Amino acid sequence: MNEYDSDRIKNAIDAEPTDDPKKADIIIVNTCAIREKADQKAFSSLGKYKSIKTNNPDTIVGISGCVAQLYGNKLLKKIPHLDFVLGTRAIPKLPEIISKIERDKRRTVETSYDLEELFDVEPYHKEGRVTAFVSVQQGCNKRCSYCIVPQVRGDEVNRPLNDILKETTNLVNKGVREITFIGQTVNSWKENGYKFGDLIRAAGDIEDLERIRFTTSYPRDITKRMIDAMKDVPQVCHHLHLPVQSGSNTVLSNMKRTYTREWYVDTILRLKDAVPDITISTDIIIGFPGETHQDFEETMSLMKEIEFESSYSFKFSPRPGTVAAEYAEEKTVQADIASARLSELQAFQKDITESKNLSRVGHIEEVLVEGESRNDPDFFSGRTDHNRILNFKGTKDLVGKTVKVKVTEGLLNSLRGELVV
Ligand code: 5AD
Repeated sequence: MNEYDSDRIKNAIDAEPTDDPKKADIIIVNTCAIREKADQKAFSSLGKYKSIKTNNPDTIVGISGCVAQLYGNKLLKKIPHLDFVLGTRAIPKLPEIISKIERDKRRTVETSYDLEELFDVEPYHKEGRVTAFVSVQQGCNKRCSYCIVPQVRGDEVNRPLNDILKETTNLVNKGVREITFIGQTVNSWKENGYKFGDLIRAAGDIEDLERIRFTTSYPRDITKRMIDAMKDVPQVCHHLHLPVQSGSNTVLSNMKRTYTREWYVDTILRLKDAVPDITISTDIIIGFPGETHQDFEETMSLMKEIEFESSYSFKFSPRPGTVAAEYAEEKTVQADIASARLSELQAFQKDITESKNLSRVGHIEEVLVEGESRNDPDFFSGRTDHNRILNFKGTKDLVGKTVKVKVTEGLLNSLRGELVV
């Protein structure tokens, strides 16, 4: 989501991106507030630009994203070298803000938005890119007790179907072969009687679009209509990111996740029934207030029962204004206990991911080639249908093509293989 917004920001100001902040006319720190660490990162990166502003007072320094939305005006008071604060829904207003600062030299806070122009700025698209994100929804209507997103991104607003299809088609015409639809709870997307499954079907009709992915799905919004579409539309990749957060029904209920462990497991079975080789990844929060040893054991038993392809796991972080931050005052799980639980879960996941990757050795995978591998220019990199990174020796002309690669090695975070000719 943040990567997508950063690309929209790049496009909104119609400027040439640079990797060297000293050469920049405008520096914008795009931020995330989901956990305290991310929020602190925003302040430390802003700190880095203080000397640039001192040496060149004409450089415009701004902050955007969730931290900007959360603290608004307070940021201008706290950070003297900051010129503007841009809220999560205000990206379309950026050009106006910049020219105002250039003209009047006045510091600005913009955290309001106009509903009609919410999706107006499309992201910067680097020529030759094979994959792209398309936003289908902003904000969130769920009220998970730990989560700051509704506060900083507002209620769910769904983008009209035709606009989504138009942006997708434009990207495909520029050479993109894989689209990832993004939204906080992407599969709750609906518009004028159309539901998420209909969106997938409509995207499946776009000529030359080879792959469709979407993230992040909310478990309770998985419907038969969605599962049927995933089964019927051949371009839909056989991988789903489906955050479960905990394996304990008590914790799930305190998190206000609106489903039980049994319901989640049953949903995975329904998905596997329709798409037998589907791989599932998830998110887990460890040390939610009140999480007992037994609750944690239930999370571990769920990890063992499902064997997720991969998982992102985090220690609970109390966020201002959330219900769970209030709970945390009485029921905090001690930091060392939470750390030990997190390590245990991550060690278990590491073994599972590694053994799943190893089990692909000998298989021939279809890979959409995205570009040179980061570590070795002779190697090229792409992802399998199941979202595993696969590196292999190849040539530049393969970028953008789907090729067959025989897997020779299974590593922790990727696969290696040989091109099948
Ligand atoms: N503390 C820890 N992790 C959190 N997440 C969201 N809010 C919090 C929080 N307060 C995690 C969830 C979510 C992922 C994007 O971040 O697991 O799925």
